[in-house]
Amino acid sequence: MAASSVQGFRAIPLSSIRMDSVTEFDIHIQTRPGLPPVLYRERRLPVTPVVIEKLVEQRHHHVYIPAEQEKEYRRYITDHIEAILADPGLPLSEKCEVLYDSAQGLVADILDDPRSRELMARSKELVASTVNFMSQEQHAFRYLIQLVSYDYYTYTHSVNVSIFSIALAQHLDCFDVAALRDLGEGTLLHDVGKSMIDPSITLHRGPLTDEQWRIMKMHPVYGYEILFDHGLLGPAALDVVRHHHEKLD
Ligand SMILES: [Fe+2]
Ligand SMILES: [Fe+2]
Repeated sequence: MAASSVQGFRAIPLSSIRMDSVTEFDIHIQTRPGLPPVLYRERRLPVTPVVIEKLVEQRHHHVYIPAEQEKEYRRYITDHIEAILADPGLPLSEKCEVLYDSAQGLVADILDDPRSRELMARSKELVASTVNFMSQEQHAFRYLIQLVSYDYYTYTHSVNVSIFSIALAQHLDCFDVAALRDLGEGTLLHDVGKSMIDPSITLHRGPLTDEQWRIMKMHPVYGYEILFDHGLLGPAALDVVRHHHEKLD
């Protein structure tokens, strides 16, 4: 059953729900297109194999969670991403979908709350998983690139830049895991300083005034300062953030 957007709910791939896990969000299913999703499994109840098998049998490729429980879903995914990416039973395309989606969500959360140390730590873990995954699955990038959306959101852009950077480095024969992690972390968080700038400037369409430009140009330094204060990123990753708009001259 294809996922369609339903007001008040968010469609998530069924493959992102792990058997024998406990979720902090309610799982809903759509029994017929056009009908509102109905509760299938209440949160905090274990998702037993039978629960999943029934959904697979009924060809629910996607399930629905209430929009207000998205943060709980994102946390759940980053907690389980290693297992999802390592699952031999999941198609590569689905793993890529879950990874791309969770990275976007995490960066969106970080832009909302850049001082959260917990979110920052999770972004490091997610990059580590991404680097592992992209190193082991040589076709991952091919699938990830199909998911790339070209909207103007900073979180989408950040995930795209991170994935492209890791893939480009690998293409240039860099397989050093520590270097790829630095690169992945720096690029994923490179625009985090935009969270310090008024949305009337960052979301502005069309040319900026001189004053708006002056403020906009501060975002690499703001980002560097936020990340430096957290003390979680190494110097190479911090360099990526601080210098990402510098040109060779
Ligand atoms: Fe930037
Ligand atoms: Fe950027």
